[in-house]
Amino acid sequence: MRHIPNLKDLTTAELESILAKAAEIKANPQEFRDLLQGESLAMIFQKTSTRTRVSFEVAMTELGGHGIYIDWQTSNFVLSGIEYETEYLSRNVSCIMARLLYHSDLTKIIAGSQVPVINGCCELYHPCQALTDVLTMMEYGDISSAHLVYLGVQNNVSNSLSILCDKLGIKLTLATPEVTDNGESFDIDVQEIIRSSSFVNHTTEPRDAIQTADFVYTDTWIDMQYFNDPAHETEKRAKLEQMMPYQINAELLNGLSCKIMHDMPIHDGFEITPDMVRDPRAIIFQQAENRLHAQKGLLWWVYQQAS
Ligand code: CP
Repeated sequence: MRHIPNLKDLTTAELESILAKAAEIKANPQEFRDLLQGESLAMIFQKTSTRTRVSFEVAMTELGGHGIYIDWQTSNFVLSGIEYETEYLSRNVSCIMARLLYHSDLTKIIAGSQVPVINGCCELYHPCQALTDVLTMMEYGDISSAHLVYLGVQNNVSNSLSILCDKLGIKLTLATPEVTDNGESFDIDVQEIIRSSSFVNHTTEPRDAIQTADFVYTDTWIDMQYFNDPAHETEKRAKLEQMMPYQINAELLNGLSCKIMHDMPIHDGFEITPDMVRDPRAIIFQQAENRLHAQKGLLWWVYQQAS
């Protein structure tokens, strides 16, 4: 049995097999409609979600299994110990996916679980998103010669992209402000990858980085749980001002043929302008659709390890 807290423990060959299977299932979904017959996935959410919830639930349905949505606030996770609720869950379901505020809670779920646990996004990692992103890039040719430029803030998404690109040998440039070790998403292993990897590097200068980009990618500048929080209004305004040079807009991408990526949800006029979302170079909705297909590849691998 293998858990997916991040992508650090997976080998290059294992990651390639997940991505290849995701592409295979996407091309021939009917062949896999009984793959997880009789299996149930518990999907625990402390945070909001559209894509993670829908893609995992539809993936289970289309693979012959069943996804059960569990809202943390209306479940007894709010009343009891995580380890007790998880031990119960893992006697009634065969896999758990959890979207949690803090990785420390995911670690508790893994400790209490007798079935595989998948991280559906926490403050440190978003492994399912990174797999989706590379699956999408693969649809445009050989990823070993592609250059991905991530514009914005270093966060859970860029952490998982850094881990994955380093393992798969994909050139990734993070064009972001400098990172300090007091940030919520600071991960010492990821910073070591950025420092020493032949494939992943960092710059504070977005304009230089995008000149050779095949894909430019952005994500929210403000963590999702803080976006509409009045208590974070001052911090949010300061962050938005600092981040404007990293915005994906027509002027920044003028004359470039790179594909435009965004993991969604989109904050119009912040990390990207609305015209760029609908630009012919944008592959954002194809990328979002691929959450479903990447999830299927990941579920195939996780269940295969557990059997
Ligand atoms: N990209 C992503 O994880 O989307 P949701 O927050 O809607 O699940």
